[in-house]
Amino acid sequence: MSRKPIIAGNWKMNKTVKEAHEFVEAVKDKVPSADLVDSVVAAPFLALDRLVADAKGSDLKISAENVHFENSGAFTGEVSPVMLEDLGVQYAIIGHSERRAMFAETDETVNKKVLASFAHHLIPIVCVGETLDEREGGKWQSVVKNQVTKAFAGVPSDQAADVVVAYEPIWAIGTGKSASSDDANEVCAYIRKTVADLYDETVAAKVRIQYGGSVKPATIGDLLAQSDIDGALVGGASLQPESFLALLEAVK
Ligand code: G3P
Repeated sequence: MSRKPIIAGNWKMNKTVKEAHEFVEAVKDKVPSADLVDSVVAAPFLALDRLVADAKGSDLKISAENVHFENSGAFTGEVSPVMLEDLGVQYAIIGHSERRAMFAETDETVNKKVLASFAHHLIPIVCVGETLDEREGGKWQSVVKNQVTKAFAGVPSDQAADVVVAYEPIWAIGTGKSASSDDANEVCAYIRKTVADLYDETVAAKVRIQYGGSVKPATIGDLLAQSDIDGALVGGASLQPESFLALLEAVK
């Protein structure tokens, strides 16, 4: 089964709308064909309207970095899946470890957000990953299995195949200390096995699994060469147009 790679930049809390617009203008006609790779930028909410318009007609896709699970209501400061769908946003990152650690995201809210995303034609990019203590304590399997199992709860098998899982070991995020490609692949293979246990081999073979954590243009090639790594979710190295394009070059 060949899976189309998906390379996504996660800008986090970076870039004004003007800066985001200039980035997209610089890359949109240079990203590889969408037949070859899904090229995605995840931007702050404020920039999404502009970026969707900027990227229209190109092979660049736009993602949110978060989404609420309710459609509307008294949730001050939040953005709903209805709003993102209305803009034409195609993806939403869900359960990033920064949101789990700093904004009370739980496995339960992650699951609600996955279900809400599918209800509004957003493809969820679900982040999972262990802390350094959990890795050193030999607990990564149970942590990752639990996160994946809870994230997929109630997702029917035809939609499950469309979920993108991003394996981001917390100790590798923004530290310059990436997991080795072998270690990253071991976890991604384990995530695929978990999906197979939840559904079946067919669904598991379709699910795309990214690695994230200090990915750079120089390291992405080795990661993508692994059997169970289908792309990358990239923070720091996605912020400059040249570096983002260099990441995408790796799939050619
Ligand atoms: O979501 C991407 C991320 O958390 C990794 O960030 O800066 O280590 O590539 P970075």
